[in-house]
Amino acid sequence: MADEEDLETEFSVKVLITGGAGFIGRRTAAALAAGGDTVTILDSFSPQIHGDPTGHDALKAELAQHADVIVGDVRDAALLKELAPGHDAVLHLAAETGTGQSMYDMIRYNDVNVTGTAALLEAVTAAGSKIGKVVVASSRSIYGEGAYHCAQHGIVHPGDRSPAVMDAGSFDPTCPICGEAITVASTSEQAPLTPASVYAVTKLAQEHLVLAVAKAHGFAGYALRYQNVFGAGQSLSNPYTGILSIFSREMLFGRPIEIFEDGLESRDFVHVDDVVKANCAALLPTNGGVHSINVGTGIGISVNTVAAELARLLDYKGEIRISGRYRAGDIRHNIADVRLLQDTLNLECTIDFKTGLEKFVAWAREELIRGSDNGGAYIHSLAELAERGLMKGG
Ligand SMILES: NC(=O)c1ccc[n+]([C@@H]2O[C@H](COP(=O)([O-])OP(=O)(O)OC[C@H]3O[C@@H](n4cnc5c(N)ncnc54)[C@H](O)[C@@H]3O)[C@@H](O)[C@H]2O)c1
Repeated sequence: MADEEDLETEFSVKVLITGGAGFIGRRTAAALAAGGDTVTILDSFSPQIHGDPTGHDALKAELAQHADVIVGDVRDAALLKELAPGHDAVLHLAAETGTGQSMYDMIRYNDVNVTGTAALLEAVTAAGSKIGKVVVASSRSIYGEGAYHCAQHGIVHPGDRSPAVMDAGSFDPTCPICGEAITVASTSEQAPLTPASVYAVTKLAQEHLVLAVAKAHGFAGYALRYQNVFGAGQSLSNPYTGILSIFSREMLFGRPIEIFEDGLESRDFVHVDDVVKANCAALLPTNGGVHSINVGTGIGISVNTVAAELARLLDYKGEIRISGRYRAGDIRHNIADVRLLQDTLNLECTIDFKTGLEKFVAWAREELIRGSDNGGAYIHSLAELAERGLMKGG
C-alpha cells in the first residue's frame, strides 16, 4: 500500500486543461483526476458549444467534481501567466472547431486557435512557470487528402480534387503521377501536410507552434492528431461539427438527410474513450520528447455506412438523399496509420465503430428527446455555406 501511494505521488501531475469543459476535455479531466492527478480547467464556455449561459451551472457542477474550473479565454495572456506557475503540464484543447464555418469566419478561427496557442506558450515559457510538457490536440485535417496506393507508383498523395471533375460526379482522387485509379491507404505522420480548410491551417499552426517552442525551450511536446472523435457527450447543439450529432438530430426530428458526394467518402472514427487514453498516456511524466502522433483506429467508415447504421439504431424511415453536392475544403478519405501510437505511447484504439455507435445513440436519443430542437440550425448552416459559394455541385 505504501508503495502504491509513493507511486501515485511520484507520477501524479498538476494539469491545466484549456477547453476542458468540452467533449474531450471533460472526459480527460475525469480520467486524470481518477488516476490521482490534479486538474484545472480553463474554458470560455463558448455559447456555440455549450448553448445559453443559463444552462452552464449543471456542467460547472459536474466539472467541479474533478477539477478547479476557471471561466476565461485562452487568448487572455495575463490570466494564463497567473495560472501557469501552479501546473506541471498543459493539455491544450481550446479551439474553434467547425471546418465549414472556418471558411468564412476566418479572423475568429485564427484568433482563438493561433493567437490563443501563442498566448498559452508565452505563459508556459514565462519566468516562474515550471510546466514541463504541452500536449496539443492536433487533427487529421492537417493532412488534407489522405494517402493512397497506386498499382504502379506505390504510396501516393494526391492533391486537391478538381471542381470540374467533381461537378461531373466523379469524386475519387486519381494517381498524381499516372492519373490511374488508386485505393485508399493509411496516412502516416510522414505524409505531406496540405491543410484544405482554415480550421486545418490553424490546427497545423497550433502543432508547429507547440513543437517548435517545446524544442527551443527544452520541454516535452506532443501533438496528438485525432481522427474523427465520437461518443456520448459530444456537442449535439453545434450545427457546424460532427456528422453523428447532426444526422442523429435530423433523424430524430424526422427531417431528411442529405449525404454529400456519393456517400462513399470515409473517415476514421475513434471513440472518445480511446482518445482520453491517448491524452493520459501523453501526459505521463515518463513519456518525454517531442512528437506528432496519429490517434485513430486505422479503419475507414463511409458516410453511407454511418447514415445506414444510425437509421437502423434510431428506426428512421425518412429520406436519405445522396445529393452529389460537395463542400469546398472537404477531403475524400483519411485513415490513420497507427504504428507510431503503438510504438511511442504503447496504445491501440480498441473500441470498434459499431459498439461505440450503439453507446452514442443510446445517449444521444435521451439527450435529444429531453432537450429542445434547434429548429433546423443544420439546414441554416448549409445555407450559409451555399450563400458564400462554398457548397458546390449536385
Ligand atoms: N472532436 C473531434 O472530432 C476532434 C478531431 C480532431 C481534433 N479535435 C480537437 O480537439 C480539441 C477538443 O475538441 P472537442 O471535440 O472536445 O471540442 P469542443 O468544442 O467540445 O470543446 C472545445 C472547448 O473549448 C472551449 N473554447 C472555445 N473557445 C475558447 C476560448 N477562446 N478560450 C477558452 N476556451 C474556449 C469551448 O467552450 C469548449 O468547451 C479541439 O482543439 C479540436 O480542434 C477534435
